Amino acid sequence: MTRIVAVSGSRREASTTRAALAVALDAAAAAGAETDLIDLGAVDLPLYHPDEDVQGDSEALKRRVREADGVLAGTPVYRGSYSSTFKNFHDFCGSDEYANTAVGLLATAGGGSYGGTLEHLRSTFRNVHAWTVPHEVGIEGASRVVETGDADAGPRITDDELRERTERLGRVVVEHAERLRG
Ligand SMILES: Cc1cc2nc3c(=O)[nH]c(=O)nc-3n(C[C@H](O)[C@H](O)[C@H](O)COP(=O)(O)O)c2cc1C
Repeated sequence: MTRIVAVSGSRREASTTRAALAVALDAAAAAGAETDLIDLGAVDLPLYHPDEDVQGDSEALKRRVREADGVLAGTPVYRGSYSSTFKNFHDFCGSDEYANTAVGLLATAGGGSYGGTLEHLRSTFRNVHAWTVPHEVGIEGASRVVETGDADAGPRITDDELRERTERLGRVVVEHAERLRG
């Protein structure tokens, strides 16, 4: 079965990035994939140190990425780029994890400037030989259109066009992950 893992680069408990990724993951599951979510706010991953082979949960997290056929990478926009939390994870994973992996990109912004973040994600994923899909999702004013869910309801994107775009990201990553599996 095709495996898709989402990686959320926010440490906030009520993260809109994680919620938007959950919407994309649901669409991936509906397209037949087995899904998994790495919430970087809920793992033990110290600041990357090049002299250390293993740090906290690093080996288990890298294995989850390595075993995935597709990755949904999501980050909040911080200072016009991705978050330090996402960058830290990026430093742990290289081409051993991402070769032959389809990657879909998603960024949530407080304002409207997510373009640079998506470009930085795309160029750094190219650096680790990932196959980023052309379809991507940027969500401006994320706190207004992304509901993180509660005991009664799961995460939701209230804007129809954005929800459809996000669901499509999940489906496109499954499609390309299947193609790369051969
Ligand atoms: C340190 C920091 C820097 C930020 N920089 C930007 C920015 O440059 N542009 C922007 O539109 N929003 C910026 N924001 C707002 C976040 O991108 C926005 O709140 C995002 O949706 C948070 O995602 P989360 O809910 O998953 O944590 C910043 C927030 C923080 C905490």
